[in-house]
Amino acid sequence: MLLYVFIIILVYIFSILVLHFKYPEMSWDWDNISIKELTFPKEFKWGTATASHQVEGNSINNWSKFEREVNSNGDPRISGNQRSGDACDHWNRYPEDILLIKNLGVSHYRFSIEWSKVQPSQDSFNSDALSHYHAMIDAIIDNDLIPVLTLHHFTHPLWFDDLGAFEKSENIKLFVKFCERIFKEYSGKVPIWCTINEPAVVSTQGYFSGMFPPGKKDAQLSAIVLKNLLEAHVQSYQHLKKLENGDRVKIGIVKNINQFDPWRRWNLLDWIISGAVNQFFNISSVQFLSTGKFKIHIPGLAWIKHENKDAINSTDFFGLNYYSHNHLKVKLFSKELFSMEYKNNDILTDMPYTIYPEGIYRAIKYVSILNVPIMITENGIADHLDDRRELYIKRYLYSVSKAIKDGYNVVGYFYWSFMDNFEWAFGYDMKFGLYSVDFKTQKRELRKGANAFVDIVKNEK
Ligand code: BGC
Repeated sequence: MLLYVFIIILVYIFSILVLHFKYPEMSWDWDNISIKELTFPKEFKWGTATASHQVEGNSINNWSKFEREVNSNGDPRISGNQRSGDACDHWNRYPEDILLIKNLGVSHYRFSIEWSKVQPSQDSFNSDALSHYHAMIDAIIDNDLIPVLTLHHFTHPLWFDDLGAFEKSENIKLFVKFCERIFKEYSGKVPIWCTINEPAVVSTQGYFSGMFPPGKKDAQLSAIVLKNLLEAHVQSYQHLKKLENGDRVKIGIVKNINQFDPWRRWNLLDWIISGAVNQFFNISSVQFLSTGKFKIHIPGLAWIKHENKDAINSTDFFGLNYYSHNHLKVKLFSKELFSMEYKNNDILTDMPYTIYPEGIYRAIKYVSILNVPIMITENGIADHLDDRRELYIKRYLYSVSKAIKDGYNVVGYFYWSFMDNFEWAFGYDMKFGLYSVDFKTQKRELRKGANAFVDIVKNEK
Protein backbone atom coordinates (compact mmCIF):
# COMPACT_ATOMS: atom_id res chain seq x y z
CA MET A 1 0.00 0.00 0.00
CA LEU A 2 2.73 2.40 1.09
CA LEU A 3 4.63 1.53 -2.09
CA TYR A 4 1.61 2.48 -4.22
CA VAL A 5 1.29 5.82 -2.45
CA PHE A 6 4.99 6.41 -2.98
CA ILE A 7 4.74 5.59 -6.71
CA ILE A 8 1.71 7.89 -7.14
CA ILE A 9 3.57 10.74 -5.44
CA LEU A 10 6.61 10.15 -7.66
CA VAL A 11 4.47 10.12 -10.85
CA TYR A 12 2.72 13.30 -9.71
CA ILE A 13 6.00 15.12 -9.05
CA PHE A 14 7.43 13.87 -12.34
CA SER A 15 4.37 15.06 -14.32
CA ILE A 16 4.46 18.49 -12.70
CA LEU A 17 8.18 18.85 -13.43
CA VAL A 18 7.68 17.84 -17.08
CA LEU A 19 4.80 20.31 -17.51
CA HIS A 20 6.69 23.06 -15.70
CA PHE A 21 9.75 22.84 -17.96
CA LYS A 22 7.90 22.00 -21.18
CA TYR A 23 5.47 24.92 -20.81
CA PRO A 24 7.30 27.75 -19.05
CA GLU A 25 5.28 30.91 -18.50
CA MET A 26 7.22 33.52 -20.46
CA SER A 27 8.00 36.56 -18.34
CA TRP A 28 10.33 39.44 -19.24
CA ASP A 29 12.11 41.90 -17.00
CA TRP A 30 10.45 45.10 -18.20
CA ASP A 31 12.62 47.30 -15.96
CA ASN A 32 15.60 46.39 -18.09
CA ILE A 33 13.99 46.50 -21.51
CA SER A 34 14.30 49.54 -23.71
CA ILE A 35 10.94 49.83 -25.41
CA LYS A 36 12.34 52.53 -27.66
CA GLU A 37 14.23 50.03 -29.77
CA LEU A 38 11.60 49.06 -32.29
CA THR A 39 12.09 47.82 -35.82
CA PHE A 40 9.36 47.24 -38.35
CA PRO A 41 9.81 46.43 -42.02
CA LYS A 42 9.21 49.26 -44.48
CA GLU A 43 6.17 47.65 -46.09
CA PHE A 44 4.56 46.91 -42.67
CA LYS A 45 0.78 47.43 -42.68
CA TRP A 46 -0.27 49.85 -39.95
CA GLY A 47 -3.98 50.10 -39.34
CA THR A 48 -6.89 50.47 -37.02
CA ALA A 49 -10.12 48.50 -36.85
CA THR A 50 -13.85 48.59 -36.12
CA ALA A 51 -16.85 46.30 -36.64
CA SER A 52 -20.17 47.38 -38.15
CA HIS A 53 -22.53 46.65 -35.25
CA GLN A 54 -20.20 48.32 -32.78
CA VAL A 55 -19.93 51.60 -34.67
CA GLU A 56 -23.01 51.76 -36.90
CA GLY A 57 -25.73 50.37 -34.64
CA ASN A 58 -29.30 50.25 -35.96
CA SER A 59 -29.23 46.74 -37.37
CA ILE A 60 -31.84 44.04 -37.22
CA ASN A 61 -29.58 41.22 -36.22
CA ASN A 62 -28.94 38.60 -33.53
CA TRP A 63 -27.27 41.22 -31.31
CA SER A 64 -30.02 43.84 -31.38
CA LYS A 65 -32.45 41.04 -30.44
CA PHE A 66 -30.18 39.88 -27.61
CA GLU A 67 -29.82 43.44 -26.30
CA ARG A 68 -33.55 43.51 -25.56
CA GLU A 69 -33.61 40.20 -23.69
CA VAL A 70 -33.04 39.19 -20.06
CA ASN A 71 -31.11 36.15 -18.84
CA SER A 72 -32.50 33.27 -16.76
CA ASN A 73 -32.21 35.39 -13.57
CA GLY A 74 -34.25 38.15 -15.16
CA ASP A 75 -31.19 40.43 -15.50
CA PRO A 76 -30.56 42.38 -18.71
CA ARG A 77 -28.13 40.73 -21.11
CA ILE A 78 -26.07 43.89 -21.55
CA SER A 79 -24.46 45.71 -18.63
CA GLY A 80 -26.83 48.40 -17.31
CA ASN A 81 -29.47 47.34 -19.86
CA GLN A 82 -27.68 49.37 -22.56
CA ARG A 83 -28.56 49.09 -26.25
CA SER A 84 -26.30 49.64 -29.24
CA GLY A 85 -28.73 52.27 -30.64
CA ASP A 86 -27.03 54.63 -33.07
CA ALA A 87 -23.61 53.56 -31.73
CA CYS A 88 -21.03 56.03 -33.13
CA ASP A 89 -23.25 56.90 -36.10
CA HIS A 90 -20.38 55.77 -38.30
CA TRP A 91 -23.00 54.96 -40.95
CA ASN A 92 -23.49 58.70 -41.52
CA ARG A 93 -20.23 60.06 -40.21
CA TYR A 94 -17.81 57.78 -42.07
CA PRO A 95 -16.43 60.62 -44.27
CA GLU A 96 -15.19 62.56 -41.20
CA ASP A 97 -14.15 59.34 -39.47
CA ILE A 98 -11.98 58.31 -42.39
CA LEU A 99 -10.17 61.64 -42.14
CA LEU A 100 -9.56 60.98 -38.45
CA ILE A 101 -8.16 57.56 -39.30
CA LYS A 102 -5.90 59.14 -41.91
CA ASN A 103 -4.64 61.61 -39.29
CA LEU A 104 -3.32 58.70 -37.26
CA GLY A 105 -0.78 58.09 -40.01
CA VAL A 106 -1.91 54.52 -40.65
CA SER A 107 -2.15 52.92 -44.07
CA HIS A 108 -5.07 50.51 -43.58
CA TYR A 109 -8.60 50.53 -42.18
CA ARG A 110 -10.28 47.26 -41.18
CA PHE A 111 -14.08 47.38 -40.97
CA SER A 112 -16.92 44.90 -41.38
CA ILE A 113 -19.97 44.66 -43.60
CA GLU A 114 -23.26 44.36 -41.72
CA TRP A 115 -24.81 41.21 -43.20
CA SER A 116 -28.29 42.07 -41.91
CA LYS A 117 -28.23 45.42 -43.72
CA VAL A 118 -27.15 44.13 -47.11
CA GLN A 119 -29.24 40.95 -47.02
CA PRO A 120 -32.31 41.78 -44.93
CA SER A 121 -34.16 38.64 -46.01
CA GLN A 122 -32.95 35.32 -47.32
CA ASP A 123 -33.79 36.12 -50.91
CA SER A 124 -33.11 39.82 -51.18
CA PHE A 125 -30.07 42.05 -51.17
CA ASN A 126 -30.56 45.73 -50.40
CA SER A 127 -29.08 47.89 -53.14
CA ASP A 128 -28.97 51.03 -50.94
CA ALA A 129 -26.88 49.23 -48.34
CA LEU A 130 -24.59 47.81 -51.02
CA SER A 131 -24.13 51.31 -52.48
CA HIS A 132 -23.47 52.69 -49.03
CA TYR A 133 -20.50 50.36 -48.54
CA HIS A 134 -19.29 51.15 -52.07
CA ALA A 135 -19.24 54.83 -51.15
CA MET A 136 -17.45 54.10 -47.88
CA ILE A 137 -14.81 51.94 -49.56
CA ASP A 138 -14.31 54.65 -52.21
CA ALA A 139 -13.83 57.25 -49.47
CA ILE A 140 -11.24 55.02 -47.78
CA ILE A 141 -9.33 54.61 -51.05
CA ASP A 142 -9.64 58.31 -51.96
CA ASN A 143 -7.91 59.09 -48.67
CA ASP A 144 -4.97 56.84 -49.56
CA LEU A 145 -6.00 54.17 -47.11
CA ILE A 146 -6.28 50.48 -47.97
CA PRO A 147 -9.59 48.82 -47.07
CA VAL A 148 -9.57 45.53 -45.17
CA LEU A 149 -13.01 43.96 -45.16
CA THR A 150 -14.40 41.52 -42.58
CA LEU A 151 -17.35 39.42 -43.72
CA HIS A 152 -18.56 38.17 -40.33
CA HIS A 153 -17.87 40.07 -37.13
CA PHE A 154 -20.19 38.47 -34.52
CA THR A 155 -23.49 39.50 -36.16
CA HIS A 156 -25.90 37.87 -38.57
CA PRO A 157 -29.44 38.63 -39.79
CA LEU A 158 -32.46 37.44 -37.83
CA TRP A 159 -33.66 35.25 -40.70
CA PHE A 160 -30.36 33.36 -40.42
CA ASP A 161 -30.81 33.16 -36.66
CA ASP A 162 -34.31 31.72 -37.10
CA LEU A 163 -32.83 28.97 -39.24
CA GLY A 164 -30.48 28.00 -36.40
CA ALA A 165 -27.45 30.05 -37.56
CA PHE A 166 -24.14 28.18 -37.19
CA GLU A 167 -25.66 25.52 -34.94
CA LYS A 168 -26.55 23.71 -38.16
CA SER A 169 -23.96 22.74 -40.77
CA GLU A 170 -26.58 22.98 -43.55
CA ASN A 171 -26.73 26.76 -42.97
CA ILE A 172 -23.07 27.25 -43.93
CA LYS A 173 -23.98 27.46 -47.62
CA LEU A 174 -26.19 30.50 -46.84
CA PHE A 175 -23.20 32.30 -45.37
CA VAL A 176 -21.09 31.32 -48.38
CA LYS A 177 -23.75 32.78 -50.69
CA PHE A 178 -23.62 36.09 -48.80
CA CYS A 179 -19.80 36.08 -49.01
CA GLU A 180 -19.86 35.46 -52.75
CA ARG A 181 -22.24 38.35 -53.32
CA ILE A 182 -20.13 40.74 -51.26
CA PHE A 183 -16.96 39.54 -52.94
CA LYS A 184 -18.42 40.13 -56.40
CA GLU A 185 -19.33 43.67 -55.33
CA TYR A 186 -16.11 44.81 -53.72
CA SER A 187 -13.20 42.52 -54.63
CA GLY A 188 -12.11 44.91 -57.40
CA LYS A 189 -11.47 47.53 -54.72
CA VAL A 190 -10.60 45.58 -51.55
CA PRO A 191 -7.28 43.70 -51.50
CA ILE A 192 -7.50 42.10 -48.02
CA TRP A 193 -10.44 40.02 -46.81
CA CYS A 194 -11.19 38.52 -43.41
CA THR A 195 -13.78 35.74 -43.39
CA ILE A 196 -14.86 35.05 -39.81
CA ASN A 197 -13.79 37.11 -36.82
CA GLU A 198 -12.94 35.04 -33.74
CA PRO A 199 -14.91 31.81 -34.21
CA ALA A 200 -13.97 30.58 -30.73
CA VAL A 201 -15.38 33.74 -29.12
CA VAL A 202 -18.68 33.39 -30.99
CA SER A 203 -18.94 29.76 -29.90
CA THR A 204 -17.75 30.00 -26.28
CA GLN A 205 -19.44 33.27 -25.39
CA GLY A 206 -22.63 32.44 -27.26
CA TYR A 207 -22.96 28.80 -26.25
CA PHE A 208 -20.83 28.22 -23.13
CA SER A 209 -20.75 31.33 -20.94
CA GLY A 210 -23.99 32.68 -22.43
CA MET A 211 -22.62 36.24 -22.56
CA PHE A 212 -23.21 36.58 -26.32
CA PRO A 213 -26.27 35.64 -28.36
CA PRO A 214 -28.02 33.30 -28.26
CA GLY A 215 -27.06 33.13 -24.56
CA LYS A 216 -26.99 29.34 -24.37
CA LYS A 217 -24.90 27.26 -21.96
CA ASP A 218 -24.14 23.98 -23.66
CA ALA A 219 -20.49 22.98 -24.09
CA GLN A 220 -21.21 20.32 -26.73
CA LEU A 221 -23.23 22.76 -28.84
CA SER A 222 -20.45 25.31 -28.39
CA ALA A 223 -17.97 22.81 -29.88
CA ILE A 224 -20.34 22.10 -32.80
CA VAL A 225 -20.72 25.82 -33.53
CA LEU A 226 -16.95 26.26 -33.46
CA LYS A 227 -16.54 23.41 -35.95
CA ASN A 228 -19.23 24.91 -38.21
CA LEU A 229 -17.70 28.39 -38.10
CA LEU A 230 -14.31 26.99 -39.07
CA GLU A 231 -15.98 25.05 -41.87
CA ALA A 232 -17.73 28.27 -42.95
CA HIS A 233 -14.31 29.88 -43.21
CA VAL A 234 -12.87 27.01 -45.25
CA GLN A 235 -15.85 26.80 -47.59
CA SER A 236 -16.07 30.54 -48.18
CA TYR A 237 -12.30 30.68 -48.80
CA GLN A 238 -12.61 27.91 -51.41
CA HIS A 239 -15.54 29.61 -53.16
CA LEU A 240 -14.10 33.14 -53.13
CA LYS A 241 -10.76 31.99 -54.48
CA LYS A 242 -12.55 30.66 -57.58
CA LEU A 243 -14.24 34.00 -58.33
CA GLU A 244 -12.81 36.85 -60.37
CA ASN A 245 -10.06 38.61 -58.31
CA GLY A 246 -9.87 35.54 -56.05
CA ASP A 247 -6.25 34.84 -56.93
CA ARG A 248 -5.28 38.51 -56.67
CA VAL A 249 -6.54 39.31 -53.17
CA LYS A 250 -5.57 37.91 -49.79
CA ILE A 251 -8.23 36.07 -47.80
CA GLY A 252 -7.69 34.98 -44.21
CA ILE A 253 -9.38 33.92 -41.00
CA VAL A 254 -9.22 36.08 -37.86
CA LYS A 255 -8.66 34.16 -34.67
CA ASN A 256 -7.78 35.44 -31.27
CA ILE A 257 -5.36 33.55 -29.12
CA ASN A 258 -5.92 33.76 -25.37
CA GLN A 259 -3.15 32.63 -23.09
CA PHE A 260 -4.30 30.27 -20.35
CA ASP A 261 -1.81 29.34 -17.65
CA PRO A 262 -2.28 27.32 -14.46
CA TRP A 263 -2.65 29.48 -11.36
CA ARG A 264 -0.71 27.04 -9.17
CA ARG A 265 2.09 25.46 -11.14
CA TRP A 266 2.32 22.60 -8.60
CA ASN A 267 -1.34 21.69 -8.98
CA LEU A 268 -2.10 19.10 -11.64
CA LEU A 269 -5.79 20.06 -11.72
CA ASP A 270 -4.92 23.65 -12.64
CA TRP A 271 -2.73 22.29 -15.44
CA ILE A 272 -5.53 20.02 -16.65
CA ILE A 273 -8.14 22.77 -16.72
CA SER A 274 -5.90 25.31 -18.47
CA GLY A 275 -4.88 22.59 -20.95
CA ALA A 276 -8.53 21.73 -21.66
CA VAL A 277 -9.57 25.36 -22.11
CA ASN A 278 -6.53 25.91 -24.33
CA GLN A 279 -7.46 22.89 -26.44
CA PHE A 280 -11.03 24.14 -26.86
CA PHE A 281 -10.22 27.78 -27.47
CA ASN A 282 -6.89 27.81 -29.30
CA ILE A 283 -5.45 24.46 -30.30
CA SER A 284 -8.53 22.91 -31.98
CA SER A 285 -8.78 25.78 -34.52
CA VAL A 286 -5.06 26.08 -35.29
CA GLN A 287 -4.73 22.31 -35.61
CA PHE A 288 -7.70 22.19 -38.00
CA LEU A 289 -6.03 24.77 -40.23
CA SER A 290 -2.71 22.96 -40.17
CA THR A 291 -3.83 19.30 -40.42
CA GLY A 292 -7.47 19.35 -41.54
CA LYS A 293 -8.37 17.55 -38.32
CA PHE A 294 -10.63 19.17 -35.75
CA LYS A 295 -10.85 17.57 -32.33
CA ILE A 296 -12.20 18.56 -28.93
CA HIS A 297 -12.11 15.76 -26.39
CA ILE A 298 -13.02 16.99 -22.94
CA PRO A 299 -14.70 14.18 -21.01
CA GLY A 300 -18.10 15.09 -19.62
CA LEU A 301 -18.17 18.43 -21.46
CA ALA A 302 -17.57 18.28 -25.19
CA TRP A 303 -16.55 15.49 -27.53
CA ILE A 304 -16.26 16.10 -31.25
CA LYS A 305 -14.09 14.97 -34.15
CA HIS A 306 -14.24 16.26 -37.72
CA GLU A 307 -11.99 16.17 -40.74
CA ASN A 308 -11.72 18.25 -43.91
CA LYS A 309 -8.43 18.26 -45.77
CA ASP A 310 -9.47 21.50 -47.53
CA ALA A 311 -8.75 23.29 -44.26
CA ILE A 312 -5.03 22.88 -44.95
CA ASN A 313 -3.78 25.93 -46.88
CA SER A 314 -7.18 27.64 -46.51
CA THR A 315 -5.86 30.95 -45.26
CA ASP A 316 -3.54 33.34 -47.12
CA PHE A 317 -2.64 34.99 -43.82
CA PHE A 318 -3.44 34.43 -40.17
CA GLY A 319 -5.36 37.37 -38.69
CA LEU A 320 -4.22 37.29 -35.09
CA ASN A 321 -6.25 39.12 -32.47
CA TYR A 322 -4.59 39.27 -29.10
CA TYR A 323 -6.00 40.62 -25.85
CA SER A 324 -5.93 38.37 -22.85
CA HIS A 325 -4.03 36.25 -20.46
CA ASN A 326 -5.74 34.34 -17.70
CA HIS A 327 -4.54 32.18 -14.85
CA LEU A 328 -7.02 29.40 -14.16
CA LYS A 329 -7.63 27.88 -10.75
CA VAL A 330 -9.79 24.79 -10.30
CA LYS A 331 -12.62 25.26 -7.82
CA LEU A 332 -13.34 21.84 -6.43
CA PHE A 333 -16.47 22.34 -4.38
CA SER A 334 -18.13 25.08 -6.32
CA LYS A 335 -20.71 25.44 -9.08
CA GLU A 336 -18.12 27.00 -11.39
CA LEU A 337 -15.42 24.71 -12.69
CA PHE A 338 -12.65 27.26 -12.28
CA SER A 339 -11.89 30.89 -11.47
CA MET A 340 -9.59 33.47 -13.09
CA GLU A 341 -6.90 34.75 -10.75
CA TYR A 342 -4.56 37.77 -10.78
CA LYS A 343 -1.19 38.32 -9.16
CA ASN A 344 -0.47 41.36 -6.96
CA ASN A 345 1.85 42.95 -9.51
CA ASP A 346 -0.46 42.28 -12.50
CA ILE A 347 -1.55 45.45 -14.29
CA LEU A 348 -5.19 45.01 -15.18
CA THR A 349 -7.02 46.53 -18.13
CA ASP A 350 -10.65 47.64 -17.60
CA MET A 351 -11.65 44.28 -19.11
CA PRO A 352 -11.16 41.25 -16.87
CA TYR A 353 -7.62 40.50 -17.99
CA THR A 354 -4.08 41.71 -17.51
CA ILE A 355 -1.50 43.56 -19.55
CA TYR A 356 0.78 40.73 -20.65
CA PRO A 357 2.77 41.70 -23.75
CA GLU A 358 4.77 38.47 -23.59
CA GLY A 359 1.46 36.83 -24.54
CA ILE A 360 1.36 38.34 -28.01
CA TYR A 361 4.91 37.08 -28.62
CA ARG A 362 3.86 33.58 -27.49
CA ALA A 363 0.79 33.78 -29.73
CA ILE A 364 2.85 34.82 -32.77
CA LYS A 365 5.28 31.99 -32.11
CA TYR A 366 2.44 29.47 -31.77
CA VAL A 367 0.50 30.41 -34.92
CA SER A 368 3.70 30.56 -36.97
CA ILE A 369 3.38 26.75 -37.25
CA LEU A 370 0.89 27.50 -40.04
CA ASN A 371 3.65 29.02 -42.17
CA VAL A 372 1.56 31.92 -43.47
CA PRO A 373 2.10 35.65 -42.90
CA ILE A 374 0.69 36.80 -39.57
CA MET A 375 -1.29 40.03 -39.44
CA ILE A 376 -2.21 41.40 -36.01
CA THR A 377 -5.79 42.30 -36.91
CA GLU A 378 -6.65 43.52 -33.38
CA ASN A 379 -4.82 44.48 -30.22
CA GLY A 380 -5.78 47.25 -27.83
CA ILE A 381 -6.77 48.20 -24.32
CA ALA A 382 -9.97 49.26 -22.57
CA ASP A 383 -8.74 52.08 -20.35
CA HIS A 384 -11.30 54.71 -19.37
CA LEU A 385 -8.72 56.65 -17.32
CA ASP A 386 -6.26 56.60 -20.21
CA ASP A 387 -3.50 55.93 -17.70
CA ARG A 388 -2.29 52.58 -19.07
CA ARG A 389 -2.80 52.98 -22.83
CA GLU A 390 0.65 54.43 -23.55
CA LEU A 391 2.40 51.67 -21.60
CA TYR A 392 0.22 49.06 -23.28
CA ILE A 393 0.94 50.30 -26.79
CA LYS A 394 4.68 50.59 -26.23
CA ARG A 395 5.06 47.20 -24.62
CA TYR A 396 2.88 45.30 -27.07
CA LEU A 397 4.58 46.90 -30.05
CA TYR A 398 7.93 46.09 -28.47
CA SER A 399 6.84 42.43 -28.37
CA VAL A 400 5.67 42.47 -31.98
CA SER A 401 8.92 44.13 -33.05
CA LYS A 402 10.93 41.55 -31.10
CA ALA A 403 8.99 38.75 -32.80
CA ILE A 404 9.87 40.25 -36.19
CA LYS A 405 13.52 40.57 -35.20
CA ASP A 406 13.46 36.94 -34.08
CA GLY A 407 12.36 35.91 -37.57
CA TYR A 408 8.57 35.59 -37.30
CA ASN A 409 6.67 36.72 -40.36
CA VAL A 410 4.43 39.46 -38.91
CA VAL A 411 3.24 41.74 -41.72
CA GLY A 412 0.89 44.20 -40.02
CA TYR A 413 -0.63 45.56 -36.84
CA PHE A 414 -4.15 47.01 -36.42
CA TYR A 415 -5.00 48.82 -33.21
CA TRP A 416 -8.41 48.07 -31.67
CA SER A 417 -10.16 50.33 -31.87
CA PHE A 418 -10.22 53.49 -33.93
CA MET A 419 -12.81 54.99 -31.52
CA ASP A 420 -14.86 54.03 -28.46
CA ASN A 421 -17.81 51.89 -29.46
CA PHE A 422 -20.43 49.37 -28.37
CA GLU A 423 -18.36 46.78 -26.54
CA TRP A 424 -20.86 43.90 -26.79
CA ALA A 425 -22.01 42.61 -23.37
CA PHE A 426 -20.25 45.54 -21.66
CA GLY A 427 -22.17 48.12 -23.67
CA TYR A 428 -20.49 51.52 -23.82
CA ASP A 429 -18.61 51.09 -20.50
CA MET A 430 -15.38 49.92 -22.11
CA LYS A 431 -13.23 52.59 -23.74
CA PHE A 432 -11.00 50.96 -26.34
CA GLY A 433 -10.76 53.97 -28.66
CA LEU A 434 -7.69 55.82 -29.84
CA TYR A 435 -10.35 58.52 -30.13
CA SER A 436 -12.80 58.97 -27.27
CA VAL A 437 -16.43 59.45 -28.28
CA ASP A 438 -18.95 61.58 -26.45
CA PHE A 439 -22.08 59.58 -27.23
CA LYS A 440 -24.38 62.56 -26.59
CA THR A 441 -22.69 64.87 -29.11
CA GLN A 442 -20.80 62.26 -31.19
CA LYS A 443 -17.67 64.36 -30.72
CA ARG A 444 -14.44 62.40 -31.24
CA GLU A 445 -11.20 63.39 -29.55
CA LEU A 446 -7.75 61.83 -29.79
CA ARG A 447 -6.75 60.43 -26.41
CA LYS A 448 -3.40 61.43 -24.95
CA GLY A 449 -2.38 57.80 -24.59
CA ALA A 450 -3.05 57.26 -28.30
CA ASN A 451 -0.10 59.49 -29.18
CA ALA A 452 2.23 56.61 -28.39
CA PHE A 453 0.68 54.73 -31.32
CA VAL A 454 0.66 57.75 -33.63
CA ASP A 455 4.35 58.46 -32.86
CA ILE A 456 5.47 54.90 -33.45
CA VAL A 457 3.54 54.68 -36.72
CA LYS A 458 4.97 57.98 -37.96
CA ASN A 459 8.55 57.07 -37.01
CA GLU A 460 8.37 53.58 -38.44
CA LYS A 461 6.73 54.40 -41.77
C1 BGC B 1 -13.57 41.63 -30.93
C2 BGC B 1 -13.99 43.08 -30.88
C3 BGC B 1 -14.04 43.54 -29.44
C4 BGC B 1 -12.64 43.43 -28.86
C5 BGC B 1 -12.49 43.94 -27.45
C6 BGC B 1 -12.46 41.28 -29.96
O1 BGC B 1 -12.75 40.07 -29.36
O2 BGC B 1 -13.24 41.25 -32.23
O3 BGC B 1 -15.21 43.19 -31.52
O4 BGC B 1 -14.53 44.82 -29.31
O5 BGC B 1 -12.28 42.07 -28.86
O6 BGC B 1 -13.14 43.17 -26.54
